[in-house]
Amino acid sequence: MVQPAVLLGLDLGASKVVSVIAVLETSGALQITGAAQANAEGGIRMGEINDMELTTRAINRAVEESMRAAGQTKLDGLRVSVDGIQFKGENLRDSITISSMDKIITVADRDRVLEQAANGCKLAKEETVLHRIPQMFHIKGQRDIRNPVNMVGESLEAEVRIIVAPGPVLGNINRALQLSGLQGADLLYSPMASAEAVLTREDSENGAVVVDIGDELTHLGVFLRGALFHSAVIPIGGRHFTRDLEITKHLGGISVAERIKRVYGTALPSQVPPEEHIELEEEGRQVSRRELAEVLHARAVELLNMVLAEIGRSGLIHEIHGGVHLVGGGALLPHLPILAQNILGRPRVVLGRVHGLQGLPQVLSNPLYTNALGVVKALARDLQETGPKRGGDGLRGFFKKLF
Ligand SMILES: Nc1ncnc2c1ncn2[C@@H]1O[C@H](COP(=O)(O)OP(=O)(O)OP(=O)(O)O)[C@@H](O)[C@H]1O
Ligand SMILES: [Mg+2]
Repeated sequence: MVQPAVLLGLDLGASKVVSVIAVLETSGALQITGAAQANAEGGIRMGEINDMELTTRAINRAVEESMRAAGQTKLDGLRVSVDGIQFKGENLRDSITISSMDKIITVADRDRVLEQAANGCKLAKEETVLHRIPQMFHIKGQRDIRNPVNMVGESLEAEVRIIVAPGPVLGNINRALQLSGLQGADLLYSPMASAEAVLTREDSENGAVVVDIGDELTHLGVFLRGALFHSAVIPIGGRHFTRDLEITKHLGGISVAERIKRVYGTALPSQVPPEEHIELEEEGRQVSRRELAEVLHARAVELLNMVLAEIGRSGLIHEIHGGVHLVGGGALLPHLPILAQNILGRPRVVLGRVHGLQGLPQVLSNPLYTNALGVVKALARDLQETGPKRGGDGLRGFFKKLF
């Protein structure tokens, strides 16, 4: 980079919109200089926009506030983390014959086999491909090649993961960005943004899982050899924990239950002395803190068993040497990593910690910003690898948006 670039990362979550501003220095350092969040007030549900005005208002608020905090007025690039209940992933593979005399594999060969493999997906009429992620290549007699360009082979096989979502869902996200004056944004599937934020290169090479416990949904990504091998969405998030408390213990409404969860909640009832009680001032009574923990524990066990089933479905449970990293607001429930460790067993479980960024410590350490930080970090990495105008030459060029 010849000049510092001002970058924006946006996370469109179910409960809020988060914006972070980063300056990519000429040295390659990425400084977080501004951040803000805005409540979408129900404008986004399960990753889908259901009120354009509320959504664009929240985007505008978050972006303007973060720009102001960073003291910036213009942007050189932006990327948006997206996910939702209808996002799906599938692993595909296909092979081609290398027809040239010298059998040297070219960039065009690599792109052709990736394209052909991805085309094997039977899309529903309204579905659009968001990403085609190259996982691994094989040639006859040599397997697990990261980049086959310039190698010699008679045939080339590619394994690729595609992420698809309904076209209208993505179209309306793009429309909201456009209405907010954010032209030219490209979209990144949120588990990839989480991974970028909290996994080291070695983690994702050696096998690692990110579990983003959001408000309504939990998203999960399983990474191996630096690529996404499995992803899933589970329809449980922090909101379900709060709702369970209110339904079973009648704490005085959802907002009271939410506050009690955040202040007194834990996923491990054994950590709470049985005699400890919490005063419900407005209700004029007390409630046992251990009983609250039992309710939260039951929901956490349900969620973590679903996470375990998804890791099992990936077929990679014995390959997760880089650990399971919990992110998102829901991961703030005390003792959740310990319970997760008990349930998931083999892989090490940790609270995801953002690395490789500089700047505002209170933003870098706040899990609510993890996705937005990851998305801006991914953008900076692409800019450094391929320059401001991303070409199709590098392997990463394949990650571009396709609509
Ligand atoms: N200290 C805490 N303890 C337990 N849960 C918490 C805590 N702080 C926040 N949460 C929960 O985190 C959830 C919000 O998480 P987050 O901000 O990551 O969601 P989101 O990104 O808006 O939603 P999604 O990822 O589903 O689109 C809320 O349900 C909230 O109850
Ligand atoms: Mg989120």
